[in-house]
Amino acid sequence: MSRIAYVNGRYVPHAHAMVHVEDRGYQFADGVYEVCEVRGGRMIDERRHMERLARSLRELQISQPMPPSALGVVMRETIRRNKVRDGIVYLQVTRGVARRDHVFPEGEVPPSVVVTARSADPGKAERQAADGIAVITVPENRWPRVDIKSVSLLPNVLAKQAAKEAGAREAWFVDTDGMVTEGGSTNAWIVTMDGVLVTHPADIGILRGITRTVVLEVASRQGLRVEERAFSVEEAYAAREAFITAASTIVMPVVRIDGRPIGNGHPGSIARDLRAAFHEVAEIAL
Ligand code: PDD
Repeated sequence: MSRIAYVNGRYVPHAHAMVHVEDRGYQFADGVYEVCEVRGGRMIDERRHMERLARSLRELQISQPMPPSALGVVMRETIRRNKVRDGIVYLQVTRGVARRDHVFPEGEVPPSVVVTARSADPGKAERQAADGIAVITVPENRWPRVDIKSVSLLPNVLAKQAAKEAGAREAWFVDTDGMVTEGGSTNAWIVTMDGVLVTHPADIGILRGITRTVVLEVASRQGLRVEERAFSVEEAYAAREAFITAASTIVMPVVRIDGRPIGNGHPGSIARDLRAAFHEVAEIAL
């Protein structure tokens, strides 16, 4: 099937989907993005993703390219044209095209908007969740503004490549105090031996994941004890369970950290139950 991308007002064949060489996203990573899950042809948690996008844009003083509802229309149309039932939709907004100069361009430069959508095999994801994944830890080397969902992802790229080369799926960043912040493209969680869910606070040091927010809500409905606090690598090694969350993985059990088995080395029941209940709480667009 031929894939279609949305680029600055037009739906074009994926092979011809281009932005200008002087797009500031290309030259300076001067842009932001969102990834939403698509399930059964519907976008998950659109409202929350649009709110986070608006915040990222505000923080970088990039103007909102069109109202969130219009962006939603474009995303749904891109999902439809690509016949995606299960997968992801990707939205990127950059500061636009201008002569290369670090400072913001003067005058009215319209932001560049790109939307793509891609199918994923839900069976494969379920098999992976049944097996669990391995993660490695790497030193935190990102800028302090990781709360902004910026396309400037080089440390994340290198961390995830290191994970791949070590036979793992994700890399967890560890700060200078030995505390786990988050993964290269996911939030990090553990379940302590007393059954307490622990994840890093979202006011500093991590991206406030939409999946994280929804999982906190699922956990509270399930009556689970939750602590939003930093946890150390040692605490993670000794945890009963561990898992990651993101729109692209939902809740994915972690069974190995730096080669050490977590708990009994198999996915834990809390991660499994949170994964199973996630879509009862997530917002599913009509
Ligand atoms: N990543 N932390 C980081 C650094 C991320 O890049 C992501 C998402 C998350 C989880 O956020 P959410 O639950 O809203 O997906 C946490 C996306 C999926 C990506 O880059 O592909």
